[in-house]
Amino acid sequence: MNVEESFAKLSDVKPLKTALSRELTIAVMGAGSRGNEYPEYGKLFPDSCRVVAVSDINEYRRNKMAEKWSIPADRVFGDYHEMLEAGKNGKLADILLIALPDDLHFEPAMEAMSQGYDILLEKPMAQTSEECEALLKRQHETGVMVAVGHVLRYSPYFRALKNAIDSGLVGELVSIQHMEPVLYAHMAHSFVRGNWRNSKMTTPMIVAKCCHDMDLLRWIVGKPCTSVKAEGNLFLFRPEKAPEGAPHRCTDGCPYEATCPYSALEIYDRKRWFMYVFDVPKDCPSEQLREILKTSDYGRCVYHCDNDQPDHIVAALRFEGGVTASFTMDAFTPWGGRRTRVMGTMGFIEGDGKTFTLHRFDTGKAHTWAFVPPQGENYKESGHAGGDLALIRDFLEAVDTRDFTKLSSSLDASVESHLMGFSCEKDRLFVSRTALA
Ligand SMILES: NC(=O)c1ccc[n+]([C@@H]2O[C@H](COP(=O)([O-])OP(=O)(O)OC[C@H]3O[C@@H](n4cnc5c(N)ncnc54)[C@H](O)[C@@H]3O)[C@@H](O)[C@H]2O)c1
Repeated sequence: MNVEESFAKLSDVKPLKTALSRELTIAVMGAGSRGNEYPEYGKLFPDSCRVVAVSDINEYRRNKMAEKWSIPADRVFGDYHEMLEAGKNGKLADILLIALPDDLHFEPAMEAMSQGYDILLEKPMAQTSEECEALLKRQHETGVMVAVGHVLRYSPYFRALKNAIDSGLVGELVSIQHMEPVLYAHMAHSFVRGNWRNSKMTTPMIVAKCCHDMDLLRWIVGKPCTSVKAEGNLFLFRPEKAPEGAPHRCTDGCPYEATCPYSALEIYDRKRWFMYVFDVPKDCPSEQLREILKTSDYGRCVYHCDNDQPDHIVAALRFEGGVTASFTMDAFTPWGGRRTRVMGTMGFIEGDGKTFTLHRFDTGKAHTWAFVPPQGENYKESGHAGGDLALIRDFLEAVDTRDFTKLSSSLDASVESHLMGFSCEKDRLFVSRTALA
């Protein structure tokens, strides 16, 4: 096959709809953003999957999900322990979706495996490398199927990029430059004010946010990582960087509010970004939202939060056989969407998360790939460049057929990339301590 033909084949995108032998049932732990995202597949393709039990300590969210899926009252639980307790008398569903906060993944996953559930476990799978290994051991003992939420592996964009490399379009792979631009407001929302602000409460940034990137690099290279080095720190969001006299809340008449790009009033009220965390309609009155911001974590000044996550990280990775990768996570960008450059002996690829261009050294030609969404009612865009719904599709297929090979983000595959992240964090902290000494 010549380059043109190989490149054209990259456009063969797997259809979102799949044929299953029966409808699979799902019990959801954590009816927040992620807990709602994956089951959407069942709404898009009726008879594929259905939520039959829910657990959430937030009454509004669990009731909303119960209503959406007509879940009977005896299958609606508060704390996840109640759902685990009920599962001791027999599984509540074929699949358990664990979409709880990061610090509540390990314990329920361990117990649920023993109860015989196949599990869709949100990333990060656990908070330490020891816990990751323990999960893998339990999975091997129980023989259940576990998928980790490494959704980017399933997005048509990253699949095409990997296929391009695997089919030799850049010759032999030599090195990769990969960047995760977080977006300044997303950093402020999730990693300064929000749920992932403190590495001790959740997981270090390189795992919480960048386990996707460690995972992509390991997956694309296709060989074990043999060494990591990392640097990074919290440059901006610290008390000493606060403008003089800035109050602790944006709602307290901050004199800098009108010009501060991180202002809670600007991000939430005027722009209406990230509204899903407030459990109010996106178009709720300004007064109502400002009242919420007076007490919510999201109304705090970004310089006066209990945060410790780095706002920039650089890492250097080496893989078996000599391939290297450099990785950058940066908060200070005007957009999200991973940027990747791939260097090979015969070609170079540059991509921005939506399209990528292959430049061949032998012909001097450039070939551009872009995702063309299939026409028809059986397609829907989803988060992570389509990865969210594609992951649940493959997971349902794997559970239905008991064919583990249909699953790209297995626990085995995911443990390794989590360990890369934890190793980066260890190295980053070691470097920081040395510098301070
Ligand atoms: N795969 C991805 O790309 C991706 C993207 C975003 C988040 N995540 C991960 O998904 C997980 C969930 O994130 P989210 O954005 O949906 O958060 P979220 O806050 O929207 O949802 C978590 C839900 O868990 C509930 N909860 C908390 N403690 C509970 C308990 N003890 N018992 C029952 N319910 C409880 C909360 O009330 C909340 O509704 C996190 O671990 C996060 O890191 C993954």
